[in-house]
Amino acid sequence: MEIGFDVAAAVGMDEGEVATPALVVDLDMFEANLARMQALAADAGMALRPHAKTHKSPDIGRAQVAVGAVGLCCQKVSEAEALVAGGIGDVLVSNQVRQPRALARLAALAHRARVAACVDDAGGVAALAAAVAAAGTEVGVLVELDVGAGRCGCRSADEAAALARAVAAAHGLRFEGLQAYHGGAQHIVDPEARRAVIEAAAARVREAVAALGAAGLECPRVTGAGTGSFPFEAASGVWTELQCGSYVFMDADYGRVRGSGNDGLWGFGHALFVLAGVMSVAPGRAVLDAGLKAMSGESGVPRVAGRPDLVCRGLSDEHAVLDDPAGSLKVGDRVRLIPGHCDPTVNLWDDYVGLRGGRVECLWPVSARGKVW
Ligand SMILES: Cc1ncc(COP(=O)(O)O)c(C=O)c1O
Repeated sequence: MEIGFDVAAAVGMDEGEVATPALVVDLDMFEANLARMQALAADAGMALRPHAKTHKSPDIGRAQVAVGAVGLCCQKVSEAEALVAGGIGDVLVSNQVRQPRALARLAALAHRARVAACVDDAGGVAALAAAVAAAGTEVGVLVELDVGAGRCGCRSADEAAALARAVAAAHGLRFEGLQAYHGGAQHIVDPEARRAVIEAAAARVREAVAALGAAGLECPRVTGAGTGSFPFEAASGVWTELQCGSYVFMDADYGRVRGSGNDGLWGFGHALFVLAGVMSVAPGRAVLDAGLKAMSGESGVPRVAGRPDLVCRGLSDEHAVLDDPAGSLKVGDRVRLIPGHCDPTVNLWDDYVGLRGGRVECLWPVSARGKVW
C-alpha cells in the first residue's frame, strides 16, 4: 500500500508496512484491560472514572465510557477541553486550577459538559466561585486531601471540613466530596508495603469524612486510586470511585510492580508499544530507530516485548541500543518496545496506530497532546 511521508500508517495496512518508529496499540489486549478494570470496579461496587492523563484521547475515553465508566479524569483544563470536544460529557480535573485563564476556560466548559475540579485552600474556592459567576455556570468541587503523598491537598481533616463548608456556601459551586489520591504508593513494588500505605491513607480519609459529618455535611463521593493500589482502596470501604489510568496500556515500570499473583499486576497486560526498526548492527549489538523523541526515559529504558534475550542499554534522541548477544537481529527487523512510562511517551506522538491480527484497524489522534495548561 502507498503511503505519504507524513503518515506512518493507514487503515488496512499490514503491521510490517507501518513506518517505524510508530506508537502502536494492541487492540485485543487494550480491550481486555478495559473490560477487566470495569469488571473489577463493578465487583467492588465502585464507580470507575479512568484517568485520561494516560492516553489523552477522546477515542479511548469513549471506549472506556462505552464499557461503563461514569466519566473521565484529567489533570489540566486544556485536556478537559479536548475530551469534551471529543464527546466526553463528564470530566473531573483531578487537580488544582489556579491560573485565571484556565479558571475562565473551565467555567466556560461547564456550558458544554458536567465538569468538576479540586481545591485545597480558600483562595482556590474564591477563584473558582468568581470564574463561574463570570461565566454564568456551575462547577463541581472536590476538596483534595493530602493522604500522604506530600503533593497538593489539605493537611488535616479540620482544614478539609472548613473548606467543604466554604464550597457548599459558594454560589455556583457544587460540593461533590473528597479527592484522595496517593501517587507515591502506586509503584511500590511489594504489595504488602503498598497496602500499608493505602491503609494509612484510608485512616486520613475516614477522619476527614467524620469531620465533614461533624460540620453537618454529607460526603457524597471519595475519589482516587491508581493502577498500582486500587484493590486496596476498593477493600477499604472508604473510596467510592476509582481513577486508574495506566491499566489501559501497562508500561514497563508497572510491569515491575507486583500484584497478588505471579502473572503481572492484577492480570492487566501490555497493550502499548513503540514499534521500532533495526537500523544498524554490530557484533553483540543492534541499534533501533526510536529514542527519547519516541518514548520517555525518566522511568527507565524500555523492555523488548517477548524477547528477554534483548536488553536495552540506553536511549539517545533518535536511537535505542540493544544488547543482542546472539546476533539475532538484522537491519530491517522490527521489535515492539514496552516504554518505561506510558503517559509522557504518549504525549510525544500525534497518533496511535491500532493493530489487530497484524493489521492496522484504526488511527486515533492523541488529541490532548501538548495540552499541559
Ligand atoms: C490524581 C490522579 N489520579 C489517578 C492517576 C492514575 O494513576 P495510574 O496511571 O497509576 O493508574 C493519577 C496518575 O498520576 C493521578 O495523578
